[in-house]
Parts: sequence; structure tokens; C-alpha cells
Amino acid sequence: MSDGNKIMPTVWACVAVLIILMILIYAGTGNTATKAAVQPPIPKAGPLAQPRSLQQVGLPADQTRAVIPPDNPQTPEKIALGQKLFFDGRLSADGSVACAGCHNPERAFTDGKPTSTGIHGRVGQRNAPTVLNALYNKTQFWDGRAKTLEDQAALPIVNSIEMGQPNLNAAVVRIAAVDEYQGAFNRVFGRPIGSADLLRAIASYERALVSFNSPFDRFIAGDKNAIDAAAQRGWDLFNTRARCNKCHALTETKRDVTLFTDNDFHDIGIGIIRHNVVALARQAEQLVNSGDAAAIDRAALQTDMSALGRFLVTKKESDIASFKTPGLRNLLVTGPYFHDGSQVTLWDVMDHYNKGDGLQNPWLDEDIQPLALTEREIDDVVAFLASLTSDDYKKPAVKELARQRVLSRTQRPQRDTARAFGPKPTQPKPPQP
Ligand code: HEC
Ligand code: HEC
Repeated sequence: MSDGNKIMPTVWACVAVLIILMILIYAGTGNTATKAAVQPPIPKAGPLAQPRSLQQVGLPADQTRAVIPPDNPQTPEKIALGQKLFFDGRLSADGSVACAGCHNPERAFTDGKPTSTGIHGRVGQRNAPTVLNALYNKTQFWDGRAKTLEDQAALPIVNSIEMGQPNLNAAVVRIAAVDEYQGAFNRVFGRPIGSADLLRAIASYERALVSFNSPFDRFIAGDKNAIDAAAQRGWDLFNTRARCNKCHALTETKRDVTLFTDNDFHDIGIGIIRHNVVALARQAEQLVNSGDAAAIDRAALQTDMSALGRFLVTKKESDIASFKTPGLRNLLVTGPYFHDGSQVTLWDVMDHYNKGDGLQNPWLDEDIQPLALTEREIDDVVAFLASLTSDDYKKPAVKELARQRVLSRTQRPQRDTARAFGPKPTQPKPPQP
């Protein structure tokens, strides 16, 4: 046999391996609305799906009562009906997608993906936030485009990459064909099934998903050993040099121990690099003017206009790339982080803040600036964030913290120590139209 005969099969084998690799890499990248992925089965309603007790350390009792709308009082039967609907794929066009598919109780009502996958495996532009404690949100969605949980629930049902119904009534017809639901709606609302009651039942279930009872809550309640020294230092940093309380607190004057959000919107520099937001903003104006809620929902989830954030709702230039300040409970079960799921670990999140975003943009919030936190201080803030895990999720959270810690030792894609300890850069002016 000549040498050529020996070499050629090896060359072809290498070429084949390369082609397979390229296909795999291609399949793993891209994040477009049309790319298909495998549809996982709808999760079963296990113990973590049950309505939560109102007897939790840290639960704000008055506020919890105050957010129940007078026209949709909580009753155990209504909550149970809402729970059934939340897990029912029949709300979707082909029966395959339920709310719980993207808001899985085992993952603190998120899906663990950077951005969600809906009907026919379609992938959207945004990360699924937790539904736990969503009852306290002043607005719903990352850009606040829905006011109430009732308004919110209607949108995924009719969104073509989420549950895919042509209209809300199609979902009502499907549900009304089920005897069990006819009986249940009649008992709860005393009338035949209608869309408003369907949304009320779902919202009512969500209002039963309160989540406190964390080591931090016990610390605040007086158990000084409930969180360790690192978490205690982290809590102090959170309210001082790390500047987190500028947004993750109800006011800047008093420490907020409950929900860790100002209910406001800020551009903290997430995702803005990837898009020409000025051109997108011009494109979006007409759409926002139309006031068509379903069309704005499509833009937010299925197009690059997603990066415009709050601007899609207000059309105010200062709201370009602004997103809602999320609460910070159960973070170890709700990753990856930010509206586009772009950060993998809490250390990555901290690195982002520590360097003051790193890439200046004209609309960047003034409270995003270099923090000069040391590695130990970053670990301390992460320890504090970890202490906000409800006892319900203690086990998976311990595992996830260990996983993130290992990752953070070798991979710190957002770390930029020079910027973190450097001066505050000057802010560029918004581009002229
Ligand atoms: C295909 C995945 C998917 C399905 C199905 C889905 N959601 Fe969501 N949900 C998301 C994503 C993604 C967001 C964030 C979208 C945004 O902010 O633009 C979201 C946002 C929310 C929010 C807002 C939370 C907050 O903090 O602002 C609530 C509440 C919610 N969903 C409840 C539901 C309910 C109820 C259903 C079923 C009727 C449902 N979702 C179906 C993916 C999904
Ligand atoms: C200027 C306001 C502001 C400051 C200061 C701020 N945050 Fe945020 N935070 C936000 C906003 C807004 C988001 C959502 C941004 C997005 O997704 O585009 C966010 C998102 C997060 C997330 C991701 C949560 C999730 O569910 O994806 C974490 C974690 C977080 N912040 C922690 C912190 C910590 C810790 C600090 C202090 C080091 C801090 N933040 C400082 C406004 C702020």
C-alpha cells in the first residue's frame, strides 16, 4: 500500500469531523424567533406548584392583602381552577404549551433558558421571569407593557411564538369543551366560561405564589446567625458602596428588606451593544402609536425591537433600552440573568456592575458606574443574594451556587478590573436624529 492510501482516509475522516462540528456549532448559535427547538413535556403540578402559605417569615401581610383587586377576590376554589389552567396545554393552539412550560415550579417558575421556547419550538428574545411574587409588581413584563396579572395572562395565549392561539376566544372555546372546567367555572364564577373569568382564575393562582421564608428573612426577623458573616457584609455593601439599593430598593433612604425593586425602569447597558437602537426606535414609533397590545407584544418577543425595552411602551427617548428592575429573591433557581438571559452566574452579574457596564451608551443610568469592588467583596454580595433563597428551593440552590462558584473560578467573561477601579467615563451624547 502506498502512503497516499493511508493518508486519504485520515484526511476524509478529519473533514467529516469538521463538518459535523460546524453543524453542531451552527445549531447551537443563533437566537431567532423562527429557529425550531425540541418542545419539552409540560411539567406536572408537584408540591412546588401548590399555593403558598401566607405564614412566611418576611411576608408583607398588609401589602399582600392590598394587591388583591376588589373585582377578583381570592378563594381556594378559584386558585385551584387557576392552577389547573396554568398547567393545561389546551390553552395553546396545538395543546403542547402551558404557562408552566416556561414557568416551571421546580425552577421557581422560570425555564432555566436564556430566552424562552414556545409553540413549534419557536425561540423568543426574552428571558422568562419568575411568577413568584409577581403579584407585587406594579407592572408586568420586562418593559411593563401589561398593568395587571389579568392583562398579562392574555398575551402569551395569543402570541404566535408562545401559545399560538389566533385569539383569546379560541382558548375559551377549547376550555369550555371540557366538562370538568364547565363545572368548576360555574362553581367559582356562577356563569358560563368567558375570557375575563379565565384570566381572573389564572391571576388568582399567581397571587397565591408568594415566596419569602429565606435565611435573610430570618436574619431580619432577629436571628443574627441565620446568615453568615460574608452575607452580612454583602448586605451592607448592597446598600452602600455596591450601590444596588439605588434601584433594588423601594427608596434610597431606607433599607428595603422585602422586594428589592423600585418598580422603575433603567438602562443598565444590557444588550444595547448588539443593536442599532436609534434605527430601531424610529421603526418602533409607528407601532407604539397604533396602541395595538398584541402587535407590541410581538415586537417585544419576536423582533430586534425587543432591545428597546420600555421605549416600546412610552416612546420616550430616555426609556431606550430601559428594563424593569426585577426582584432578587430565589436568584439561584431563576438564572440565567437579565432580560435576555445573557449572564450565566451571579459573579458575571457582579462583574457587569463592578465595571459600570464597561460600554457607555447615551441612555445608561447615572447610577451605573465603576464600583471598585474587590474579589472578596464580590463574593460577599453573591453570598447575600444567595441568602434570599426561600426554603422551598434550598436544595437546588445549594447545588447551583456550587456550580456557579466553580465556573466563576475559571470563566469571568465580564470581569474588567481596570475599568472597575478606573474613573467614571464621560457619558456620550444621544445621536442627533
Ligand atoms: C413560551 C414561554 C412562555 C409561556 C408559554 C408563558 N410565558 Fe409568561 N413569560 C415568558 C417570557 C419570556 C416573559 C417575559 C416577556 C417580556 O417581558 O417581554 C414572561 C412574562 C410573564 C410574566 C411577567 C412577570 C414579570 O415579572 O414581569 C407573568 C406574570 C407571566 N409571564 C405569566 C404567564 C402566564 C399566566 C402564562 C400562561 C397564560 C404564561 N406566562 C405563558 C414566557 C412564557
Ligand atoms: C441603575 C439601577 C440598578 C442598579 C444600580 C443595580 N441594578 Fe440590578 N437590575 C436593574 C435592572 C433595570 C435590571 C434588569 C436589566 C435588564 O435585564 O436589562 C437588573 C437586573 C439585576 C439582576 C438580574 C435578575 C434577573 O432575574 O435576571 C440581578 C441579579 C441584579 N440586578 C443585581 C444587582 C446587584 C447585586 C446590584 C448592585 C451591585 C445591582 N443589581 C445594581 C437595575 C439596577
